[in-house]
Amino acid sequence: MTILALETSCDETAVAILRHRELLASEVASQIAEHEKYGGVVPEVASRNHLVHAPRLLECATRSAKIDMSNVDAFAATSGPGLASSLMIGASIAKGLAIGYGKPYLAINHLEGHLLSPFLGDGEMKPNVALIVSGGHTMSIFVRALGDYQIIGRTVDDAAGEAFDKVAKMIGLGYPGGPEIEKRARSGDPKRFDLPRSMLDATNFSFSGLKTAVRYLLPKLHGDYLADLCASFQQAVVDVLVRKTIAAAQKHNVDLVTVSGGVSCNQELLRQLRDACEREGLEFKSAEAWLCTDNAAMIAFAAMLRLESGFASNVAEEIDPNLALAS
Ligand code: KG4
Ligand code: ZN
Repeated sequence: MTILALETSCDETAVAILRHRELLASEVASQIAEHEKYGGVVPEVASRNHLVHAPRLLECATRSAKIDMSNVDAFAATSGPGLASSLMIGASIAKGLAIGYGKPYLAINHLEGHLLSPFLGDGEMKPNVALIVSGGHTMSIFVRALGDYQIIGRTVDDAAGEAFDKVAKMIGLGYPGGPEIEKRARSGDPKRFDLPRSMLDATNFSFSGLKTAVRYLLPKLHGDYLADLCASFQQAVVDVLVRKTIAAAQKHNVDLVTVSGGVSCNQELLRQLRDACEREGLEFKSAEAWLCTDNAAMIAFAAMLRLESGFASNVAEEIDPNLALAS
């Protein structure tokens, strides 16, 4: 079985081809440079760029996979959540290909793509607590089985990646802010600044208070503070994510914790979450670094697991910018 998937939920245009568990191609065209000058993603610009990049990526992917489009058994695309005008491009292309080649179409939830991504490679899925941390989302999910998800907690304001991006901007670092902050934090003292850890005992997350605390602290700082501030901020985010994830795993009685999404590129988060899992006797799985940020391989993988389990979508299925992972 060979699946071709497109991911265009935000500002990354991506195409991937997966044959069973073997990834034959994964192409990603980032639009970071185009949006950087506006200080964030401009939906109209993203959508136009998807239209420009997608045909080229489709050609690159089929060429590097050494397959003809007629050999593809199913076409998949992210159908939400995301920007409507962006989702529309990938979904329309996948639907057109599915209709043209007379093959099934699969509509995939972007968040399901992220939460399954730690299993790409060795695909044995078992019940787990999944932490998804990206620029648009922060949530923990009780994964009972494929398609059987229960949201444990989600952010009530900023996503973790959004907090990294906003704080980075405040202190004059580039976009995306996560990697910039992580780089500086390596030589900083995480204990120098006492920043808030919000809602520690709740299941939901909140990061806007932390961001505001940094804003109020900044005018009082002089001299060489950047590395210490980055390290202290990063540690505040990591503390909250680790504590809530371990508590969720214990509450739901699972023995596996997974993490995915752009912020899970952060080595300090990975190290501290892995250590905490080890201390508590929990297995830990993260997605490979190149699979953490938005890509189509995770969408193809979710589509493959869904097809194998007998799930199907209708080609008339609409995109949904607010698509929920679970009711
Ligand atoms: O998953 P992703 O590519 O896009 C969304 O679906 O949002 O995640 C992008 C987010 C950005 O906010 C970026 O700052 C963050 O992931 N990120 C990081 C790191 N690398 C990317 N945050 C912290 N540390 C990193 N190393
Ligand atoms: Zn994402």
